Amino acid sequence: MDFDLVIRNGVIVTASEVLPPGLDIGCRDGKIVCIGAGLPSSASTQVIDAEGAYITPGGVDSHVHLAQANAPTGDGWETGTRSAIAGGTTTIIAFASQQKSDASLFPVLEEYNKTSRDQSYCDYSYHFILTNPTKEILRDELPVMAHEHGITSVKLYMTYEIMKLNDREVLDILFACKALGMTTMIHAESHDMISLIIEGLERNKHTEPYYHAIARPRIAEDEASYRAISLAEFADAPMLIVHMSSEVALAHVRDAQTRLLPIHAETCPQYLFLLSERLKADPHDHFAGAKHVCSPPLRHDPKDLEGLWRNVANGTVTTFSSDHAATKYFAEGGKRLGLVDGIPRFSKIPNGLPGVETRVPLLFSQTPACVPPEKARLSLPRFVQLTATNPAKLYGLGGRKGSIAPGYDADFIIWHPSDKGICTIQQKNLHHDIDYTPYEGMEIGNWPRYTILRGQVVWDQAKGIIGTMKCGQWLKRGRGEVLVGKTGNLPRGMLEDERKYWL
Ligand SMILES: *[C@@H]1O[C@H](CO)[C@@H](O)[C@H](O)[C@H]1NC(C)=O
Ligand SMILES: *[C@@H]1O[C@H](CO)[C@@H](O)[C@H](O)[C@H]1NC(C)=O
Repeated sequence: MDFDLVIRNGVIVTASEVLPPGLDIGCRDGKIVCIGAGLPSSASTQVIDAEGAYITPGGVDSHVHLAQANAPTGDGWETGTRSAIAGGTTTIIAFASQQKSDASLFPVLEEYNKTSRDQSYCDYSYHFILTNPTKEILRDELPVMAHEHGITSVKLYMTYEIMKLNDREVLDILFACKALGMTTMIHAESHDMISLIIEGLERNKHTEPYYHAIARPRIAEDEASYRAISLAEFADAPMLIVHMSSEVALAHVRDAQTRLLPIHAETCPQYLFLLSERLKADPHDHFAGAKHVCSPPLRHDPKDLEGLWRNVANGTVTTFSSDHAATKYFAEGGKRLGLVDGIPRFSKIPNGLPGVETRVPLLFSQTPACVPPEKARLSLPRFVQLTATNPAKLYGLGGRKGSIAPGYDADFIIWHPSDKGICTIQQKNLHHDIDYTPYEGMEIGNWPRYTILRGQVVWDQAKGIIGTMKCGQWLKRGRGEVLVGKTGNLPRGMLEDERKYWL
C-alpha cells in the first residue's frame, strides 16, 4: 500500500475516544486510508512526525459571515478563509443572504458564488438566509437548492427589522425544510421586547455602546428560544438555535431534548469567555465598547459563563461556532457607523465579532490537553464533537468531514507537543483583515502547529500560510442528520390522528 502522506507519532482524538499513542495515519488522494501501527512509507510518501502531540479533525465552523453586503469592512473570502486555516479550521459554512426584495434565490446564490469561487483557502458551503419565504421559493426553489446544489440548511431571524420573520413564516419554512431533510437555524431574540427597550434608552439619551447589552436582556432570548422550540415541535421539524448565550434558554433546549424533540443548540466563544463589562468605555477611548457589540450581547455575570460551560460539557450544546461577523473598528463604514457626529449611538453599531481563527484554539485551551484534568471544562472527545463532528453531521457532511477514520477527508490539526504550544493571542499574529481581536492578550495552552486539508499542509506555524486560494473546494452537502432526539413526536395535548384533519 502506497501512501501520499503518513503522520506518525501522534495521539488521535475522535468524537468518542483518545486513541492509544503509536498509531499512524495513512492518507492517499486527500482521503484517510487507514490507521495502524508502523504504516510503510516509500520515497514518494510525505512523512510528518507529530512528536507525540494530539491530532484532532480539521475544524468545521458552521457559522461564518464572509463578504456580506451588510458588512462592507468585514472579511471577504481570501482573508476570512486564510484566517480559518491558520486557526485549524478546514471547512466553513458561510451565508448567502436573501434581501426582502429578492423574489428568487437563484440570482442570490450566483452572486454569492462569485465572491467565493477560487478564493477560498478551505472547503466551503453556504446556508441560505431567508427573509422573504414566498410560496414559490418554498415549493419550487428549496428542493433545487437541496438536491442540485447541496445547500441543505436555512437560517431565519426572529429579530432585526430588515430580516425578521413572523411565526407563520417560520412555520411554513419548518414544514418545507422538514420534507427536504434540511436543517433550520434560527436567531432567537424577541424583537418587540428589544425595540421597546431601545426606544426608551434613546429617549433617555442612554446611547453609549454599553447600553447595547441592556437593550437585549436574557429574557428576550429565553422567550424567543422557547417560542422557536414550540414552533419546531408543532411542525415536528429539526431545528438548531444559533449563538445561545443564556442558561435559561438552554434549559428550554434541554427540556425539549429530554422529550426527544430534535432541538439542537449552538454557542460561540464570546459567550464562554467574555462579559458585558467589555462594552464599557476604556480610559483612552469612550467608544471602545463598540468592538464587543454582538447579538445576543455579552452577558453580565460570571455565573452566566459558568452556566454556559456546564451546558457545553454535558451535551446540551451541539455545536461550537465562531459566528465570525466582523467589521473593522477604525474604518469608515465599520463600527464607527455608531458614532454619529461624535456621539455614540449603540443601535447604529454594526453587530458582530471576529473569531474564525481563535475559535478552535480557545476551546482546546480548556481541555485536559492544556489544563490539569480537574480544571478542564470539557473532555477531548467533547471538544472534537463540538468543533468538527457534530456540525459536519448536522449539516450533511457526515462520512466526509469532521472525523479521523478511513474514508474521511484527510483534514487534521496537529497540535504542538504539550508545553511547546503555549502562546498569547495577539492581533498582530492573526490573519483576518480586521483591526482587533476580542481575545487580545489571552494566554492559551496551544495553537495548531499544522493544519492539513485533504492531505495537504496548508498551515505550518513555523512557516505561515502554505495553502493557496485555490485549495478550497465547494462542498455539495447531503441531508442533515438529526443528532438529538427524533422526528415523529406528537405535540403535547394533541390527539394521535388530529393532524390529519388539517395537514
Ligand atoms: C455555485 O458554485 C458551485 C461551485 O463552483 C457550483 O457547483 C454551483 O452550481 C454554483 N451555483 C450557482 C447557482 O451558480
Ligand atoms: C447540563 O447543565 C445544565 C446547567 O447546569 C443543566 O441545567 C442541565 O440539566 C444539565 N444537563 C444534563 C443532562 O445534565
